[in-house]
Amino acid sequence: MYSIKNLPTHVGIIMDGNGRWAIKRHLPRLAGHQRGALAIKRIITAAEELGIKILTFFAFSTENWKRDKEEVYGIFDIVRNYLKSSSEELYSHNIKLCVMGDYTKLPEDLAEKITEMLEKTKDNTGLILNLAINYGARDELVRAFNLLAKEGKPEIGAEDIERTLYSSNLPDPDLIIRTSGEQRLSNFMLYQIACAELYFSKVFWPSFTKRHLKKALKNYSKRERRYGGNHK
Ligand code: FPP
Repeated sequence: MYSIKNLPTHVGIIMDGNGRWAIKRHLPRLAGHQRGALAIKRIITAAEELGIKILTFFAFSTENWKRDKEEVYGIFDIVRNYLKSSSEELYSHNIKLCVMGDYTKLPEDLAEKITEMLEKTKDNTGLILNLAINYGARDELVRAFNLLAKEGKPEIGAEDIERTLYSSNLPDPDLIIRTSGEQRLSNFMLYQIACAELYFSKVFWPSFTKRHLKKALKNYSKRERRYGGNHK
């Protein structure tokens, strides 16, 4: 077990650079996403070994529909294969799958597979693997406000918003990692990351390894989180 102090409980990862990883190697962009899926597996194993409790991966954003159809449906194929090939491992490792985003808009068989895996892993008590698929933070907030409008409460509080977000069952992320050198949040968990620490790695996602994760965690562990309070 990793002995570092102040390990984050919940790490959110904006996986970026799959396309550039592939182009640099004269490969199709989808090859980058395929290698990206292997990196997800690698980082889940690393997180289990290091003692991180929750991992959220930004797998497909509401904006990603603008990409070529081939790439969009290619990503869905990769997610489908990932879920099929990992289901045994998720059970044997006691991993609980969660999903953020309107996954009912995905191809029907994939949506059904997700529903099945959510149900089958719901009582698992190990690592929480939270996949953001067809997810956008603005979309999530609009959905939450509409749900609250339907409830007809005259006034809403933070706790009302929090219980209607996709991530209502999870604590806020402590650390957000974005790969590939880009320094943007790209509509990712905008409400939930109000107090999160941000870490930007230059490495393209398919090349991201346990070593890079450890570097991010070490960097995080040295930071003093103040949540708006004074320096101690
Ligand atoms: C960003 O790289 C990556 C994505 C938009 C898709 C991420 C999807 C996967 C890794 C597929 C597998 C997912 C699961 C859950 C198994 P980019 O294409 O924007 O890279 P670029 O900026 O270099 O073009």
